Amino acid sequence: MTIQWFPGHMTKARRQIEEKLKLIDVVIELLDARIPLSSRNPMVDEILHGKPRLVLLNKSDLADPKVTAEWVNYFADQGHPALPIDAASGTNVKEILPRVKQLWAHKIESQLRKGINPRAVRALIVGIPNVGKSTLINQLAGKKIAATGDKPGVTKGQQWIKVGTEMDLLDTPGILWPKFEDQMVGKRLAATGAIKEELLHLDEIALFVITYMVEQYGAGLQERFGGIELPEDMEDVQEMVKVMEAIGRKRGAIVSGGRVDLDKASLIIIRDLRAGKLGRISLEKP
Ligand code: G4P
Repeated sequence: MTIQWFPGHMTKARRQIEEKLKLIDVVIELLDARIPLSSRNPMVDEILHGKPRLVLLNKSDLADPKVTAEWVNYFADQGHPALPIDAASGTNVKEILPRVKQLWAHKIESQLRKGINPRAVRALIVGIPNVGKSTLINQLAGKKIAATGDKPGVTKGQQWIKVGTEMDLLDTPGILWPKFEDQMVGKRLAATGAIKEELLHLDEIALFVITYMVEQYGAGLQERFGGIELPEDMEDVQEMVKVMEAIGRKRGAIVSGGRVDLDKASLIIIRDLRAGKLGRISLEKP
């Protein structure tokens, strides 16, 4: 067992999912393409008991396409077909039904052989709060069904949702939390907006983002911010703070006396990252 956190919450979510699982043919696991493992509930493998599973890498519009392709291979190696999607704009959403049917094809074929008209495939969508489940369900259903909100953990009622005649969908019963007590996981979740900022200091999140970007996306950062100087030593916090200040200066986060307001600069960096204004950035690699 890997978890010690919120045992009450996890036990409840687990029980709620297990109660539904016998009704389910295929599980759709929704992850954040920028941080697939960090946005995963660490108990999901245990809870899902080997159900056929399709992994969806959502918000792929914000992720680095090269890294996303590496993640698709990573999940395929683990036996889970994976598909990058953008639930907000609908990119690749039409691919989901055929992929789900593929995972259930053996059952459909056996029903056909017995002369039974195959029923709609029943899929359960699981994912941590804010990963885009409501957005995806609304896209699949072609209408507004699930409540979307900018607050992680908005509670929604349980209902089967019809996707045409071929698929019935169920949203995660209960709330599946990520493993946010892990420091690095927590920083990735905070940077992408999956957990509330109050849990970490803004400057800490921004420092994490900038350090990662200097390491992985240095050229893009320089291009975007007009040739700012980048430190060579990734461990040098002072130098990283200077990069944050340089960005803050370029973005107008200045207080009287010409000093850079580091809190404001941090907020700008985080907002720009989440809005895709720093480019397509993945914060985790396989
Ligand atoms: P949840 O049900 O899993 O909790 O998540 P929800 O659908 O409410 O989505 C959380 C946020 O993520 C929403 O933004 C939603 O628009 C955004 N989102 C979902 N899918 C995608 C995607 O593929 N790409 C991008 N870029 N964003 C996505 P929000 O800030 O709450 O609202 P708003 O920005 O839509 O106003």
